[in-house]
Amino acid sequence: MCGIVGYIGYRKAHMVIINALKRLEYRGYDSWGVAVVQGNKLDIHKQVGAIGEIESQEFGEATLGIGHTRWATHGKPSDVNAHPHLDCNGNIAVVHNGIIENYLSLKNDLMKEGHKFVSETDTEIIAHLIEKNNGSLENAVFSAISVLKGSYAVVVISPDERKIVACRNKSPLILGVGDGEFFVASDTPAILEYTNRVVYLEDGDTVVITDSGYEIKNNGIKVERMVELVPWSLDDAEKSGYEHFMLKEIHETPRVIEETIAGHVSDTIELDVSFAAGISELVFVACGTSLHAAIVGKYIIEEMSGIPVRVEYASEFNYHTTPISRSLVVGITQSGETADTLEALRKAKGNGARILAITNVLGSSVTRVADYVIYTRAGPEIGVAATKTFIAQLVALCLVALKLSMLPRSELERFILEMRLLPEKIRKILDEKEKIKEISEILAEFDNMMYIGRGIAFPVALEGALKMKEISYIHAEGYPAGELKHGPFALLGEKTPVIVCIIRDETYDITLSNIKEVKARDSPVFAFSDEKDREIDKYVDYAVKTPEVDRIFAPIVLSVALQLLAYYTARVKGCEIDKPRHLAKSVTVE
Ligand code: M6R
Repeated sequence: MCGIVGYIGYRKAHMVIINALKRLEYRGYDSWGVAVVQGNKLDIHKQVGAIGEIESQEFGEATLGIGHTRWATHGKPSDVNAHPHLDCNGNIAVVHNGIIENYLSLKNDLMKEGHKFVSETDTEIIAHLIEKNNGSLENAVFSAISVLKGSYAVVVISPDERKIVACRNKSPLILGVGDGEFFVASDTPAILEYTNRVVYLEDGDTVVITDSGYEIKNNGIKVERMVELVPWSLDDAEKSGYEHFMLKEIHETPRVIEETIAGHVSDTIELDVSFAAGISELVFVACGTSLHAAIVGKYIIEEMSGIPVRVEYASEFNYHTTPISRSLVVGITQSGETADTLEALRKAKGNGARILAITNVLGSSVTRVADYVIYTRAGPEIGVAATKTFIAQLVALCLVALKLSMLPRSELERFILEMRLLPEKIRKILDEKEKIKEISEILAEFDNMMYIGRGIAFPVALEGALKMKEISYIHAEGYPAGELKHGPFALLGEKTPVIVCIIRDETYDITLSNIKEVKARDSPVFAFSDEKDREIDKYVDYAVKTPEVDRIFAPIVLSVALQLLAYYTARVKGCEIDKPRHLAKSVTVE
């Protein structure tokens, strides 16, 4: 939610900032802005819409500046509400990601003191609070943030002092360390072009950066933080010839599976599962796609290990009081920054639960909250729709399930062998996508659709529907196949196609019966099944076949096919695939 960036060094600041903002655009894309220090004044450019270019003459040779790409919370997208925001004298420029919960009362107080506001944002009060405080920029910023309640990553500049002051509380912020230049940004892809050496700032940190170095204080006390090497390359964050990031990221799935397996398996599964010792249950908390991975995990882990698993919407977790002191609470979040998930984990930790995080991002906030971390190895995901990171989560959950199982070694080895064949099978789906493209042309004509599945195929249906609705804007609902007749049947008919995810296990025959019920109500049926399933063709209008795999891996192959289906349907409709309307990649507000 919002991308922020700051630069101090020897390059033209506006060029670095615009480059960085383009790479952060997945975090918010309704408006943007840049401020640079030009001599003894600030030059500002702000505008609604996607990030564009700035004429070089506008910002000239300035080498110190900040920028922002916005996902509106307070006040609609407009030039005025775009960041940076300024104090009364136009001498202090602030960019912010997060939400200031007490901004209204602070704004009222500031207005009584004569401060004039121009925007509807919560951010603008920060510039005025800094203005009100005397002393160095650092001290003024520190005093200003001490009265803020809520979440913020804030970056501040002023022509009075050649420095950047940046602070973090519950919103992501990294410091990039180059040779003779420094960066601050919401996320690493923003700065990978310039440096892969980063410091992951922590809650309560304020960093003051000058041309010659930086100093970090945590709640006013000087601290040292490690400079870490980001294991991602710039290439990972580029489209590399693909039309969209989403398509590129789906095509990266085979490599992602190989790398996630390689990270945790040699001859045997080396994943350390000491986190599960003595626990009474697993409780998964997550949002969106990660929640769907959690539901797949529930089916597999319960089946393989016998350990009870609960799955909870992270955003609802804090509103009930089920005891969790003997639970292992598992946060699944690819970004590691989702506010709802982080809050749920903090509460669980406060109530005595052990915390495991499954995340894709080194140094992300969730890694600080968790007692144990399992990293997926998907590389940066830029498309707002989660694709390869979802598959990496499924692979990680399969590994946890297998490791927690009581299976004999020979059985485990069989599964590992099967897993190692997955990348090849996914490549086959990617190579044979014509049928999926053909179907997407038909589906693009509809306004509503249902996705159904039973057992382990049910969360696959949920995820298929989420992917379809978020990027094609077609209303799509995921349901357990048995649940349609309890209400949603009323929506069936020739204008409501039903996408069936079906696996040849104990759910197969009953799902076929459900298909017959759907057909009897005139809905066109599109099935996603495996290549050995000849029966299905008799029952449905279209069938997409994926390679045969052990049933616990079926969600992986079916999901890749459904991701392609959503992608091509959105493409037929000419949608803005990588940046769907109203959404953002990393949801850092509750
Ligand atoms: O970063 P997270 O995995 O915590 O994100 C959770 C959801 O916001 C996310 O999965 C969202 O639903 C997807 N972008 C949808 O494709």
